[in-house]
Amino acid sequence: MRLARATPSCEAPQGAFVTLGAASQDRRTLLKAALGLGLGLSFLEVVSARAEDPRMLRPQVGDQFVFPFGDREGQIITPEDLPLGGPQQLAYPMDPRGKIVRNGSTLNQVVLIRLDPTELTDDTRAHAAEGVVAYSAVCTHQQCPVSMWQAQAKALFCACHGSEFDPRDRARVVDGPAPRRLPMLPLKMVGGALTAAGEFTGRVDVQLTNKDRVSARYIFQQNILTGATGRFAAGAWVDIPARDQQIALDWTRTFSNQLVNQLRYSFSRAGFGFEGGSFPTCTQANIFACPTGITLQSGVAFGIQNNLPQGRIINNTQVQDNASLTRGRHTFKTGYEILRARANSLVNAQPSGRYWFGGTESPFTPNTGNDFASFLLGSVVRADFTKNLATWLPRWWDHALYFQDDWKVAPALTLNLGLRWQYESPFNTKYGQQSQFSPDAIDP
Ligand code: FES
Repeated sequence: MRLARATPSCEAPQGAFVTLGAASQDRRTLLKAALGLGLGLSFLEVVSARAEDPRMLRPQVGDQFVFPFGDREGQIITPEDLPLGGPQQLAYPMDPRGKIVRNGSTLNQVVLIRLDPTELTDDTRAHAAEGVVAYSAVCTHQQCPVSMWQAQAKALFCACHGSEFDPRDRARVVDGPAPRRLPMLPLKMVGGALTAAGEFTGRVDVQLTNKDRVSARYIFQQNILTGATGRFAAGAWVDIPARDQQIALDWTRTFSNQLVNQLRYSFSRAGFGFEGGSFPTCTQANIFACPTGITLQSGVAFGIQNNLPQGRIINNTQVQDNASLTRGRHTFKTGYEILRARANSLVNAQPSGRYWFGGTESPFTPNTGNDFASFLLGSVVRADFTKNLATWLPRWWDHALYFQDDWKVAPALTLNLGLRWQYESPFNTKYGQQSQFSPDAIDP
């Protein structure tokens, strides 16, 4: 067995590793614990200050990754810095906006490893970027750093008690006392840089029988994109706060070495808004705090854009079944998927109104004068006020069916032949709040 060391550090991180949830949750948990113990305000202040410290936050969406120590400490890690096939590279996340390295806690350490994408399981590949995968560097046994590489087994190795994790399969435990996988950090490429596409995700596997394995996964993401859109020149912009939760259950039954079936259920709830920003109190829940819109007919506009604030929640429920059968040189795969999508969208409203100003026309000469002069004089040519009567609630179905044959024609030639059929139904609305016009319908 050959072990390669990825870091000179052998320091064990202190405290429990929180795999799920945002920093605010960490903070609430700590505050509750402190209150339960009757600790004083100064302790709370220290805890609060630490929780607010961006260096203490777990990796956030949009973070990039830097070398944690050595000659290149603080430099951004690119896929080219990672040898194909391992070993892993330890890294700290960094907020690229303020160049803040989140090195305030060893629990923030991440391992990056570049692998052949064809070797990754589908689930792992979905969270990889150019073959690079990222996992928490904190062992799920007793929180030692996973800093070693087991070259023969191509496994991440924790030297404290010998746990091994398979980086090609979402850091599945392949040996040792670790009770569960390393949390995975989804990645994407942004402008050529490896970037966090989510927060750490956890997954639990249970081998029910030697033929049945079930797993459950929960993902929580919350972030806010500040100054996202709007009228920047007029000082009117909004943020995009977003919150996303997903739960997935998976049952894999191995009927034989040739036949495997996988049944999946997932539910996701994604909510986001366009609100706040330069008018912090102007939100979906507080539209009466939004300023009045001013529009000059020459095209200049002030105040909040007339389609803001707005937002929506999208609930997706999905059931999927995939079967795989191996026969000689063929691997047949077939599957069916059904998706029910439900969206709840806030319809635009402008309760504070919009005022329009046109030119103060010269006598008998239309379209003359200056609309700004009209604005200064308070000469309104039009005013709009809108109010929500209903929320937009579209619902629709999605069905998909596929068949695939991976045919190994020769040792160096495999044909991937496949067919997919998909149908997305027209949407209808909850409570039937939409009318359709058909030019072909016969007037009764
Ligand atoms: S802490 Fe990693 S195996 Fe025990």
